[in-house]
Amino acid sequence: MKKDFIAIADYSADELKGMLDLAIDLKKEYFEKGNQPIFKGKVLAMVFNKPSLRTRISFDMAMRHLGGDALFISPDEIGLGKRESIADVARVLSGYVSAIMARVFAHEHVTELAKWASIPVINGLSDYNHPCQAMADVLTIYEEFGHMDGLNVSYVGDGNNVALSLMHACAKLGMNFTIGCPEGYDLDDASMNAGREMAAKTGVSINVTRDPVEAVKDMDVVYTDTWTSMGQEAETEKRKKVFPPFQLNTELLKNAKPTAIVMHCLPAHRGYEITDEVADGPQSRLFPQAHNRLHAQKAILVEMLK
Ligand code: CP
Ligand code: NVA
Repeated sequence: MKKDFIAIADYSADELKGMLDLAIDLKKEYFEKGNQPIFKGKVLAMVFNKPSLRTRISFDMAMRHLGGDALFISPDEIGLGKRESIADVARVLSGYVSAIMARVFAHEHVTELAKWASIPVINGLSDYNHPCQAMADVLTIYEEFGHMDGLNVSYVGDGNNVALSLMHACAKLGMNFTIGCPEGYDLDDASMNAGREMAAKTGVSINVTRDPVEAVKDMDVVYTDTWTSMGQEAETEKRKKVFPPFQLNTELLKNAKPTAIVMHCLPAHRGYEITDEVADGPQSRLFPQAHNRLHAQKAILVEMLK
């Protein structure tokens, strides 16, 4: 049976921990002597319907470091679901390459690819979630604290794709998760309920608050992301009026533990969801976090292609 990496929820805590351990091993190997060319002859097709820096380059470099190759396919080239049906794209690519990574708008587009492809499909972000990001996030947290048990992770801002995968990763891996967001910008109920079920198994909590100070109070990790995700550009001005109380600035960060780290999936909109002072301050882990995309995704690729 081929494997896909579509959502954190699809994997058990042990499987996620296994991938994190593998990411740590591959990272160590890479810095000590370079990775082994275990992907010789393997090619990843990278289908992008939205822009990307981190996802595109880190997947490409992950394949190269492991002896394989990657192909970038821009939105206009194959016109996923427009020029040709997703089912046909999936079946054609299955005869050419070893795996597909796709960044899409509608989440159903990546699940449809996975349904029809006979090769692994990896979700490189959809409007619904961003599981590869969450793997790099928990890797960064684990490296920082040396464990994950019972840590308090806070997300302030829009209840978006990044927040959703982070919540599920925290719940599965035994970290308390709090989201501070304005009314109307919550994560959907089904995903919250799924998160609470995962959290019940690991004995942690999932909390929602409208108060940004309460959201970051005594937290170990404070995370934020853009107020306007790709595809929501028409709402930019409206969102700029709603979200300022949730800006991650020095004043707000003072409420977290002094040892707290700051995270952001990037790209950052400095002066909006995060200030320069916080993004470039001593508590920021923004760049190690971005670099961990490379290492976390090597583990995901190895797991999918083995
Ligand atoms: N964090 C992230 O996914 O960045 P890109 O949009 O640049 O890939
Ligand atoms: N929430 C953001 C994440 C970008 C990596 C978006 O979907 O645009």
